[in-house]
Amino acid sequence: MKRGGLRLTLSTSVLLLLVSAQLLAKESVHLTIGASKTGARINRNLFGQFAENLGHGLYEGIWVGPDSPIPNTRGIRTDVVSALRELKVPNVRWPGGCFADQYHWRKGIGPAAQRPATLNSAWGGVVDSNAFGTDEFMDFIHQIGSEAYVSANVGSGTPQEAAEWMEYMTAAAPTALAKERAANGHPEAYKVGFMGIGNESWSCGGDMTVDYYLSQLKIYSRFVSNDNPAQTGSNQMLKIAVGPGVPETDWTDAVMKAWKSHDWSWNFDGLSLHWYTVPNGWPPSTPSTGFGVADYGKSLKSTLFMEEFLRKQETVMDKYDPEKKVALVVDEWGAWHAPLPGTNKDFLVQQNSLRDAILGSLNLNIFARHADRVRMANIAQMINVLQAMILTDKEKMVLTPTYYLFRMYVPFQDATFVPVSFDAGTYTQDGVTLPRVDAIAARDGSGKLWIEITNLDPEKTLDVEAESTGILAKSAKGETLTAPAVDSVNTFAAPSAVVPKAVSATVKDGKLELTVAPKSVTVISLEQ
Ligand code: AHR
Repeated sequence: MKRGGLRLTLSTSVLLLLVSAQLLAKESVHLTIGASKTGARINRNLFGQFAENLGHGLYEGIWVGPDSPIPNTRGIRTDVVSALRELKVPNVRWPGGCFADQYHWRKGIGPAAQRPATLNSAWGGVVDSNAFGTDEFMDFIHQIGSEAYVSANVGSGTPQEAAEWMEYMTAAAPTALAKERAANGHPEAYKVGFMGIGNESWSCGGDMTVDYYLSQLKIYSRFVSNDNPAQTGSNQMLKIAVGPGVPETDWTDAVMKAWKSHDWSWNFDGLSLHWYTVPNGWPPSTPSTGFGVADYGKSLKSTLFMEEFLRKQETVMDKYDPEKKVALVVDEWGAWHAPLPGTNKDFLVQQNSLRDAILGSLNLNIFARHADRVRMANIAQMINVLQAMILTDKEKMVLTPTYYLFRMYVPFQDATFVPVSFDAGTYTQDGVTLPRVDAIAARDGSGKLWIEITNLDPEKTLDVEAESTGILAKSAKGETLTAPAVDSVNTFAAPSAVVPKAVSATVKDGKLELTVAPKSVTVISLEQ
């Protein structure tokens, strides 16, 4: 009896301790949503993807060939296509990256057996069969319902080669190249939404000075044109110039200064920017599995630098282009971790954890807040490379936490930014201080209001109260992405460790109330 009483007293105190720890482990935030004010359009192209000829990104990830036992449509994996269709991928950048400045498109067209095998000297010197070329890329784009963003080879190609590539893809008139395309199975002219003129020309794209690059840019812009008669006016192909990869602004200054005095003979519509989350500097050394909250915090801190990077470049762009005619195109971003042990280091293979989804949400929110200038972005990279949406191993496929993040953000594509004000507060973990919370809101085409809330804190639950002016909601619904640990991952054996789950939210007297888990991303819609 005595021992039982003691047990009761002990368990009661443990319970009390647990309850008070739980209470202490709660924070709150109040969001004021200015639903009657509207900001810029969150261009759907901000949710673009990047598929370089690198490692198993194209070969195995997308292309298995028509004779493969892996289910495919004309050589393209059907499982990957149906998963990507759900993301409504607005555009895909191809063939690189550094690879683009070594790519010679003619090697990748025509009957497969006649295509030459080449070496991919940008990424590991492996043999490339060239089985996945222009027509296969266009087929892939068509199957997933996306748009093509091709990168022209400025480093080792010529303006003539790029002009002929564009003619092969887009000429509707019966030119020799259009006939060649028709003979290869596609009589109709392709639509090419975007063309990059070089890639990182200050580094792997030829280590050019900005003046040398500008002379190339003018020539490519003048002579490489889209010949598709359907691509006129607002449907025109947008040309994207190489922009910065470091926070310093000299490159941007020189390119934008040249743009300001451009004449009828050349122009560009976007300036590219590359910035990766590499918390410990180069070469990337953060593990993509088996890490703790200290590494998590460092990664988030590093990712938040995107805000300052954009601001610096935008200040320079505003000087030459106050009307914001030239878009900032973040066509490479994401977490670049150490290669997974046992993999080819040139294949950039890494796992994808809850941490990646959370840092992804912070980047997407930054882009949304800068949507007046940042109108396109491409996460690196789509499949099996860096911060991927999908991992494959032969016939197996797994969707990553970043995949689910992008799926949750689909309603924000082309929605109108709505300002949200809140006191984010801070938390400190292992000497790193971070905002506790981030949030954005937007109104979609039907007028529905969407709210995203990221709870960065890996330990504390967050009570959220949101008030919105100018809108009367009756109910709310949504989903949340979280997992037991910051390094939780989806594997082929356990593919559902990090998947979105329904979250309950109430609306009372015009106020939205919900509780979000530590280290989570939540998207809510207000139903009227
Ligand atoms: O995404 C991997 C590489 O990173 C790209 O090829 C290059 O442009 C960048 O340096």
